[in-house]
Formats: sequence, structure tokens, C-alpha cells
Amino acid sequence: MLITGGKWRRPELFLVTGGCGFIGSHLVEVLCARGSHVRVLDDLSTGKRANVPALTEVIEGDVADPAAVAHAMSDVDACFHLAAVASVARSTTDWVGTSRINLGGTVNVLDAARCAREAPIPVVFASSAAVYGNPGVPLLRESQETVPLSPYGADKRASELHAAVATQLHNVPCVGLRFFNVYGPRQDPSSPYSGVISRFADALARNSTIEIFGDGEQVRDFVFVHDVVDALMKAMERAGQGESGICNVCTGRATSIRELALNVGRAAGTDVGMNLLPPRPGDIRQSVGDPTKARDMLRWQSRTSLEAGLKTTLTWYHECLQH
Ligand SMILES: NC(=O)c1ccc[n+]([C@@H]2O[C@H](COP(=O)([O-])OP(=O)(O)OC[C@H]3O[C@@H](n4cnc5c(N)ncnc54)[C@H](O)[C@@H]3O)[C@@H](O)[C@H]2O)c1
Repeated sequence: MLITGGKWRRPELFLVTGGCGFIGSHLVEVLCARGSHVRVLDDLSTGKRANVPALTEVIEGDVADPAAVAHAMSDVDACFHLAAVASVARSTTDWVGTSRINLGGTVNVLDAARCAREAPIPVVFASSAAVYGNPGVPLLRESQETVPLSPYGADKRASELHAAVATQLHNVPCVGLRFFNVYGPRQDPSSPYSGVISRFADALARNSTIEIFGDGEQVRDFVFVHDVVDALMKAMERAGQGESGICNVCTGRATSIRELALNVGRAAGTDVGMNLLPPRPGDIRQSVGDPTKARDMLRWQSRTSLEAGLKTTLTWYHECLQH
């Protein structure tokens, strides 16, 4: 129990959907370390129970099931909604199945948030840079027209629109964060959908060559997972004060895939062998975000250099291989 202003107050209870996944588990760790109570709703499709501290309450359930979400939301003070099939590729083959989770799950969360307590509870949710499509501009701002090119991007954009409706119609404070390329420990390299850094790190840890699709000159905005968790926490502070909105979570720095491979090698203290493969159809040439709105709205900016983030990530992969 906490004492505030002479009154007993229950510690905050946060629901984290997708809390056993890559980003969610880092968030759960920080919330637990802060002394908050945390409940996770996760179907463990890509997440692992072992990713979160042992005493964390984990409800194994599907975010696409309204009853499971309503149950998980009972007594909750605030919700971080991260559960999704985080794969553009899978959304193109399993359109109906992924949309049921990626959009249907968000609507379930928003609906449960509006009737969770006496008043609607705040929701911070994961959107994605995939909402922008491929406009070919050097820096993506939130004011940029969104033209998603995949069911995944369309569902993330639709989630943002539903969140805006939840705010307008039901006073649910909602902050949506458009994550760019998140990387760090616990990103699963064995998944065909995992991030390029986890695949590079894994290849190096196994002494094999790095595979690059196309000429390697496509550029991305890599943001370290600890910084992303910081953005989530700051977004919850804003939502907790009744604010709503959308903002990029990015660094504003462009890194080409070829440059990234060299950086990964440098961080590992080794020369990398690169194997250039045919380009993947629809691969976006340029995806770099403008972090100005996050700085103004959330008072957040990424603090981890690519060099430092890569070192931490590589150390983790190395340790994993030894166990
Ligand atoms: N990693 C990135 O670079 C990135 C970029 C943009 C957006 N995002 C978004 O951030 C969020 C977290 O992504 P991540 O990288 O940690 O992925 P992840 O796959 O590691 O985590 C997703 C979690 O959601 C769970 N989940 C999936 N379907 C579910 C369902 N039907 N019901 C309940 N739980 C379910 C998984 O088991 C997993 O624990 C996702 O919403 C993703 O779309 C991630």
C-alpha cells in the first residue's frame, strides 16, 4: 500500500497486453521495478512466460476475445496495449486472422477501457511506422498522409482511428505510439518476422555471414527498446492526465542496412561477411521519423546511441548462445 496525502491508496494496477513479448516484457520489468502491480494478457504465440518476472500475473488469453479482455481489464487503472501479430509479412498471407487480432484486439481493449471503472481508464497503444507506407520523403512527420501498404499497416492506422473515436465518444484518453525499428535484447531472431538487427546479431554470434536483401542502401530509423519503454511510460503520464494523440517513437537518424551491418561488426569487434540477396518486393527505401512531436508532447527523446544499443544487444545474444 502507498500513502498519499494521509490516505491509503492501492498501488496502480497496469494491464499490459502482449506483455510476454519483446517490447512488452521490457515494459513489465520497468513497471515491476517501480513497485507497480502488473497483469499481463498474452496468448504466448510469440511471447514467453519466462520473459517477465516470476511473480507477474499472466493471463493466457486472446486479445481478440472480448470476454478475455473484459476479464483482464477488471480493476485495472491503466492499460498498455502491445499485443499484436507484429508481422507485415504474415498480415499479407493471413489477412483475416491478423486483422482479427491487430484491429479487433484494439477495439476490444478500447471498449473494455471505457467501462473498466467508474471512469474510462487511459490506454497507451503500439502503432507503427508502417502506417505511412512509402511516401519517399526524408523525414516522416505525424502530419504526413498515411497510405499503408499492408494489412498490418492498415490495421495499425485503423487502430489509431478507433482510439480517436474512443476519446471523442467515450472520453477514453488514448496515446498511440508509432514505433519505428525497435531493437534490443529478447528480440527473437528465430522468427522469420524478427527485426534485422536481431538477425544480424544472431548471424554474428554464430560466426556466419550477414544476409542483406537488395543493395543494402535502404535506410531505417533504429530505436533501442529501453528508450521505447521510456516513451511508453511518458505516454502513460500524458494519458493519465487526460491527454490523447499520436506520435512517432524514433531517433530521426537514418542508418542504411549496409552501414548497420558494419556497425554490428564493429560492436562485435569483428569483420562481417555480407551476402547480398535479391531485393524483397515492396521493401521500403526510406523509413526515418521526425521525433519533434514526441519531444514536445511526451518530453521524450531517444538517449541510446546505435553503438551502445548494439553492444548491449550483441552481449545478450552471445550470452543466450552460451546457455
Ligand atoms: N518491434 C518493432 O520494431 C515494432 C515496430 C512497430 C510496431 N511494433 C508493435 O509493438 C508491439 C509489440 O511488438 P513486439 O516487437 O514486442 O512483438 P512480439 O511478437 O515480441 O510481442 C507481441 C506479443 O503479443 C502477444 N500476442 C500476439 N497475438 C496475441 C493475441 N491474439 N492475444 C494476446 N496476445 C497476443 C505475443 O505472444 C507477444 O507476447 C506490437 O503491437 C507491434 O505491432 C513493433
